[in-house]
Amino acid sequence: MEIRSFEDTDTEAVVALWSAAGLTRPWNDPHEDVRRKQTVQPEMFFVAEDSGRIVGAVMAGYDGHRGWINYLAVGDDQRGTGLGRALVERAEGALLALGCPKVQLQVRPDNTGVVDFYEHLGYAQYEAVSMGKRLIED
Ligand SMILES: CC(C)(COP(=O)(O)OP(=O)(O)OC[C@H]1O[C@@H](n2cnc3c(N)ncnc32)[C@H](O)[C@@H]1OP(=O)(O)O)[C@@H](O)C(=O)NCCC(=O)NCCS
Repeated sequence: MEIRSFEDTDTEAVVALWSAAGLTRPWNDPHEDVRRKQTVQPEMFFVAEDSGRIVGAVMAGYDGHRGWINYLAVGDDQRGTGLGRALVERAEGALLALGCPKVQLQVRPDNTGVVDFYEHLGYAQYEAVSMGKRLIED
């Protein structure tokens, strides 16, 4: 098992992994999300490879104030083996190396099960209203 930065040839496997993990949404084109990440801190997009197979992925980024984790997924057959933790810790390490003081993430309201996972890893909930504005329609 190796955790390394994403390479172009991982694209279809990563999109399939996200899709199987329930992370894709009709209003987000995952291929566009991959392509865009290749233009901004691409080295902070990590995949886990096991015997040539992509079994996990996570995107991280630092905006100069906060670090963000997105698109964390582990393949069904690899869950519960510590890979999710390893991917989060890899992302945290990369953010810390840039001097990032705090990492944040968002959990969709229908994905409550994952909140316990993040709390187990030391994340705490905080009060905030999430807001967004689409700048480019995919
Ligand atoms: C969330 C997810 C990445 C966790 O991956 P995983 O590889 O199964 O997690 P790990 O095996 O690394 O678990 C790490 C620790 O969290 C604990 N844990 C895992 N899932 C948990 C849960 N639902 N509730 C509480 N603890 C949990 C494990 O027991 C383990 O504890 P330990 O390190 O003390 O032994 C995986 O379930 C997944 O891909 N889910 C679907 C996609 C998703 O929801 N992503 C997050 C989007 S915000």
